[in-house]
Amino acid sequence: MSSSTVKLSSILSGLSYALDLTEGHPRGHAARSCLIGMRLGRALGLSADEQSHLFYALLLKDAGCSSNSARVFQLFGGDDQAAKRGVWFRDWRKLREQIAYVLDYAEPDGRVFERVRRFAVLAAKGPASRRALFEVRCDRGAQIARTLGFSAATAEAIRCMDEHWDGGGYPDGMKRAEIPLLARIVGLAQVAEIFASEQGPARAAAVVRQRTGSWFDPELAGVFRSVAGDHALWDACASPVLDDTVAAVEPEGREIAADEKRLDDIAVAFAWVIDAKSPFTYHHSERVADFAVAIARALGLGERETIRLRRAALLHDIGKLSVPNRILDKPGKLTPREWEIVKLHPYYTYQILERVPVFGELAFDASAHHERLDGRGYFRNLPAAGLSSSARILCVADQLDALSADRPYRGKMPAERVLSILREERGTGLWPDAVDAAERLVN
Ligand SMILES: [Fe+2]
Ligand SMILES: [Fe+2]
Repeated sequence: MSSSTVKLSSILSGLSYALDLTEGHPRGHAARSCLIGMRLGRALGLSADEQSHLFYALLLKDAGCSSNSARVFQLFGGDDQAAKRGVWFRDWRKLREQIAYVLDYAEPDGRVFERVRRFAVLAAKGPASRRALFEVRCDRGAQIARTLGFSAATAEAIRCMDEHWDGGGYPDGMKRAEIPLLARIVGLAQVAEIFASEQGPARAAAVVRQRTGSWFDPELAGVFRSVAGDHALWDACASPVLDDTVAAVEPEGREIAADEKRLDDIAVAFAWVIDAKSPFTYHHSERVADFAVAIARALGLGERETIRLRRAALLHDIGKLSVPNRILDKPGKLTPREWEIVKLHPYYTYQILERVPVFGELAFDASAHHERLDGRGYFRNLPAAGLSSSARILCVADQLDALSADRPYRGKMPAERVLSILREERGTGLWPDAVDAAERLVN
């Protein structure tokens, strides 16, 4: 399929599964929220332009999701994904619900003393720390939408989606009509989806009713009541071809083609999402992409192949969004079980990318970045013959940056030490041509 005939919405809808993983939502949360939100937008009689702004806000609403994962882990100590999803099931503005939430998610395996201590810390930090958690996520999401060239209306809808009708939301405590209408729609659609997918549409309707006037705009909640009884909406949410179903609700005539520049921009934007997950992977994906391109040029790889390799490098660790920060940021040695979870991240990279138009072509190479020529890598234990030149270059570029960067369990390594480790692996684990090119690059 030529990239110029592919719609941007199909790509973003496919990649939104990576955002679902980061937030601990079941696959398809953003896509289903999009169907619910667009149904509300149509029922409200929004213009085609407004619907288009809303459509992309719904697909990208969680683009800032990874930027508070490390902080959520620091605060709660358990799995950030579980804590992030759990926040939606409680009306956290009520003290009773806050206590129940913290008891559920803070140090789930810890001793009672540790859980009580966590609660005391969270209570002391209070709304200011909650605000900071939402703020970084909302700001980052809006910034990514703007960088991808979406409208100010789309970016604002993302930034303000966690504001509440009565002023009790975040990040700014906006009230009523101060909150942009599109943001109110995104906010309601995401909560409705979470309850509908876990406990059924009737429960979603009940929660919207309970939170009307506090979380939600009463008029909008009324419109939701009128569409919530429509089985076609929930059937669409259960569609086995969810991405196609989402693509079909994009307003006609407002479709955006995923040209080469857009594809590059999306790969860079998702590299930011991936690298924001942990303080130890700051700019890792972008640096790996730079190393990979430099090695590819030195080895005379074709232009088309180099473009593809760069995108694969930017997205190679997208599966890391599935790994909890309690493991990614662990200062000590990983347990065998934790190590198994880390080793699954290239498998998730494949699972995410394989079904995305255009990026599906590079899913295999991107997910082969921990393989070794001698077949002792992971997760497929591929032999050398199963690794393309691009995949082999990516393995070297990834190692080069991983060894050069700070890690939770060790500091930076000097360039000479990095090169000597690559040399040790030359021919056994790593492709000699790429190692030699990397050496010339660093020296
Ligand atoms: Fe990796
Ligand atoms: Fe990596």
